[in-house]
Amino acid sequence: MKWAVLTFFPAAALLLAQNVNYQPDTKWRAPEEAAARKNPLADKPELAAGGRKLFKRNCVECHGDSGQGLKKAADLQLPVVQDQSDGALHWKITNGNPDRGMPSFSGIPELQRWQIVLYLRTLKPGATENKSPAGEPPSR
Ligand code: HEC
Repeated sequence: MKWAVLTFFPAAALLLAQNVNYQPDTKWRAPEEAAARKNPLADKPELAAGGRKLFKRNCVECHGDSGQGLKKAADLQLPVVQDQSDGALHWKITNGNPDRGMPSFSGIPELQRWQIVLYLRTLKPGATENKSPAGEPPSR
């Protein structure tokens, strides 16, 4: 019995620390023209490092250090999230889904939101911490 207890808890902790069963809200969808927008920073992958800083400051409290999703927040490593276009992710970050606990980040400057999208693309399934080279967000 003791053995069962010891093995159960680490597994449970792991499940709570990553929202692998996350399912996107089907009613929360970027309009077509927003989803079709291209990331203006797509040819500057080095700016993902600044995106990581913005992510640490604004997002880890809910999405966790490596975007794995705490509690109800989306596991951003999942294909259901990564398969969406840059434009769709940018739109979701901008508008949020307050009914389901995702705030709007329209207060973060436009280009910095695109920079966060760059960083989201570096998230790898199973990573505990994402290391990227140092870099500063562009001023705008
Ligand atoms: C207060 C908690 C909280 C914070 C802070 C937060 N999120 Fe979220 N986020 C959520 C929740 C909860 C969801 C799931 C919403 C849903 O179920 O529709 C979500 C969903 C998302 C999604 C969409 C996943 C999908 O369904 O397609 C993205 C992308 C995202 N968050 C990115 C971010 C980024 C980037 C930041 C920081 C700028 C951030 N979030 C900050 C709680 C949060």
